[in-house]
Amino acid sequence: MIDDLLRPRTAVDLGKRPRRLRASPALRELVREREVRIGSLVQPLFVADDGQPATEIASMPGVRRWRTAEAVEECRALAALGVRAVLLFGIPDRKDAVASSAHDPAGIVQRTIRALKRDVPAMVVIADLCNCEYTDHGHCGILDERGDVDNDATLELLARTALSYAEAGVDVIAPSDMMDGRVGYLRAALDASGYTGLPIMSYAVKFASGFYGPFRDAADSTPQFGDRRSYQMDPPNAREAVREALLDLDEGADILIVKPALAYMDLIRAVAEVSDVPVACYNVSGEYAMVKAAARNGWIDEDRIVDEMLTGFARAGADIIITYFAKSYAERHRRGA
Ligand code: PBG
Repeated sequence: MIDDLLRPRTAVDLGKRPRRLRASPALRELVREREVRIGSLVQPLFVADDGQPATEIASMPGVRRWRTAEAVEECRALAALGVRAVLLFGIPDRKDAVASSAHDPAGIVQRTIRALKRDVPAMVVIADLCNCEYTDHGHCGILDERGDVDNDATLELLARTALSYAEAGVDVIAPSDMMDGRVGYLRAALDASGYTGLPIMSYAVKFASGFYGPFRDAADSTPQFGDRRSYQMDPPNAREAVREALLDLDEGADILIVKPALAYMDLIRAVAEVSDVPVACYNVSGEYAMVKAAARNGWIDEDRIVDEMLTGFARAGADIIITYFAKSYAERHRRGA
């Protein structure tokens, strides 16, 4: 026995026993601080032109490329599960140096937007807005003579594509290229064409990340030379992340995205604290692939890990979670499931 005088004073001496509130499932539920709402999840969907294979993505088990008609069916299934929003990525047949097929009114994303708004009108259709899936060099913008991405020339192209999505009836535009000034430029272009009510969900804080590897297989968008470090952010920079968020707010962003999510939870929190608009995080392809790979090996319990990850994003301050697990999460958690 420790001598009474030497015994340290503990929480127990003060009558504090946090374990009291963990005693039963009901008590634990009663005091639960955060919950992931199915209605705040966004399911990314890859849609492929007819010449492109529409199969499962090897590095993303359970994720596939869809034809437009299949994407409509998938959205019906998602809607029945309570998932309210999808984020579209296009895989076009034609790529060139200036991303011509990105703003084709009959392009894969434009066709899919039209089909979804006709057949599943209540689904919130968000279109990712970027050139990297449409350029033959795989960069997110137009290149100058030195092979650098030309910021201001790229803005014009983005606006053209954004307008073609707006005309197709998209609900939200999500620019993901990290060019400077694109939110203000897009806002002005949309407003000038009468789309004053179309929200911009900006990838405000997007890092040059190794976690996008599987996505680039899925979207066939790996840069043919160099990398994206001259436009996507440097992972160590937190102050700069807040600056990017504030700039996009000034330019009129309606929703801010922080991406990737797992290694950047501090920045979800930091952005949530300065933002007066909803904050989303993007639980990206590499984060999905790691969970799937470990689960397939029997090394982790996928369902527990996914619940913990998504709850962590909500706890960090994310109002909206973009995740390839949206459908499976909804299947497991919908009322009565
Ligand atoms: C397009 C874009 C990318 C992702 C979303 N939009 C790829 C990239 O920037 O290289 C990544 C999504 C993911 O990894 O799940 N620029």
